[in-house]
Amino acid sequence: MTTPQAHALPGSARRLLARLEMPLSRAFDGVHNPMHHLGALTIFFFYVALVTGIYLFIFYRTSLEGAWESVEYLTHEQWYAGGILRSLHRYASDAAVITLGLHIVREMIRSRHKGPRWFSWLTGVPLIWIVLWFGISGYWMVWDELAQYVAVGSARLMDWLPIFTDPMSRNFISNEAVSSRLFTLIAFIHLVGLPIIAVLAIWFHLLRVRRPRINPTRKLMLGSLVALLVLSVLVPVYSHPPADLDRVPLSLDIDWFYLAIFPLMSLTSEGFVWLVAGGGTLVLAALPWLPPAKKPPVAEVHLPDCTGCGFCAEDCPYGAIDMVERSDERNFKLEAKVNPDLCVSCGICTGSCPSSSPFRQRRPLTTGIEMPHFTMEDFRLQIDVAADKARGAVLVFGCDHGPRVERVAGPKTHTVSLPCVGMIPPAGIDYAMRSTGYSGVAIAGCEGCDCHHRLGDDFTRQRIERERQPGLRKRVPRERLLTVWMKTGDETRLDQKLTEFGKHLADLSGEEEQTDPQESGRREEVQ
Ligand code: HEM
Ligand code: SF4
Ligand code: SF4
Repeated sequence: MTTPQAHALPGSARRLLARLEMPLSRAFDGVHNPMHHLGALTIFFFYVALVTGIYLFIFYRTSLEGAWESVEYLTHEQWYAGGILRSLHRYASDAAVITLGLHIVREMIRSRHKGPRWFSWLTGVPLIWIVLWFGISGYWMVWDELAQYVAVGSARLMDWLPIFTDPMSRNFISNEAVSSRLFTLIAFIHLVGLPIIAVLAIWFHLLRVRRPRINPTRKLMLGSLVALLVLSVLVPVYSHPPADLDRVPLSLDIDWFYLAIFPLMSLTSEGFVWLVAGGGTLVLAALPWLPPAKKPPVAEVHLPDCTGCGFCAEDCPYGAIDMVERSDERNFKLEAKVNPDLCVSCGICTGSCPSSSPFRQRRPLTTGIEMPHFTMEDFRLQIDVAADKARGAVLVFGCDHGPRVERVAGPKTHTVSLPCVGMIPPAGIDYAMRSTGYSGVAIAGCEGCDCHHRLGDDFTRQRIERERQPGLRKRVPRERLLTVWMKTGDETRLDQKLTEFGKHLADLSGEEEQTDPQESGRREEVQ
């Protein structure tokens, strides 16, 4: 069984992405796969650039003569500290562009820019400009021939816009025209203005994301830092000769991550660069509203089953649930209320609700909060539907964004795909093992730190470990429960894991029969 939404999203691009990422997941043990931490890695590279930048600024001289010389001093006289930190500063900034680019493409391929998630997407767009301004203003500060090329190019671009009465290019007609105050201004923009704007913009970008992962795993941070350090030592960054506005530089090493617009401008025109930059920004900003439109079903609160405990509001990964004053006669203070504009249809709230228990006798089965396209009654029916053939079989819960569990369905494997494994109430696992006689339950969700709905895998683990309410009851035999975390497209590996699990369950049953011959005799009678 799959939900109506199942696999509408994966599409061929998504499966291709998962396939390309699989070798990285194998190498980095899934959880540490850098592709799962692209936003957080961008922030980490930003920290590295900030710390190294502060050191560089201590020695930087904000004057026409002093700028290039002070950078040369750091690079050559102090190569063991300033030189390495300068290279680290450059490489961390370049790495941020790479992770940012991948972050954008990945979120788009995974359709995480549509529906209620439009906010994170739209507020991400200005960050691209901020990152580019960081790079461009940084190159000015060195005041070498590359800085000269960037400064003249930036001035030409600005002059194309009808905003300045005095053309900016006039500042770069000759060496005498350049004022030392310009370096104070650029240093202020680069080291104070832009960092403040960036912090505010990142905060705004993550405003609707509850518990955002702003730090990559420790191993990933350490690994990236070491990689950047090694690169900095092996391939140090050097300046070009000092800027001289009386002559045009003949050859330059361009940093294509930040400065590609300038060669483009030389090949075309200022107007064309603005057209590409402005048009690209508008198209990117409009993407969430371009067809196919997505209006996911919204979670519904069922007041007769809601005790106002607030677990669902605590767990909702997008802050879509508010606890408000009770509107019915029941003797509880609060009730859950869903904001339809924020709900991404993950169903994690159903998994959090203590009322979500298939053991309850009420028919149809209801709960405090549930998805209209996959209710608790659907959930119970899906477990019960194969109950007659359940003995000795495995019930596999999957998620619409992880490995496609229906591909591993068989006579001894009953599969149910949910919007997210975080939707599984712990009582559902208990019920499957106790009341229907499945020999084991497997949960196959998205790989570590890559849950499509961000927190479903974490919450499932924590509920099983009883670290999060509602916890899985102690009486549930953990040895009959398998959790696997993998990508869509990795069904062969899932099949192997299930085969091993099947053998393990058979061994367990054998052991149980040996230790309790009376019990095994009773079972055979029933059969
Ligand atoms: C400096 C630049 C950026 C940084 C540091 C950054 C960082 C982050 C972080 C930390 C997350 C949360 C990940 C999580 O906890 O699941 C995130 C999510 C996201 N970002 Fe960015 N981001 C940046 C730029 C962008 C850009 C340019 C776009 C797109 C135009 C974008 C689109 C998104 C989307 C769609 C999400 C997913 C939100 C969700 O799960 O609903 N980001 N970003
Ligand atoms: S379905 Fe997901 S996003 Fe919607 S209210 Fe429930 S937990 Fe929040
Ligand atoms: S978890 Fe269930 S009972 Fe608790 S507030 Fe949410 S809907 Fe109500």
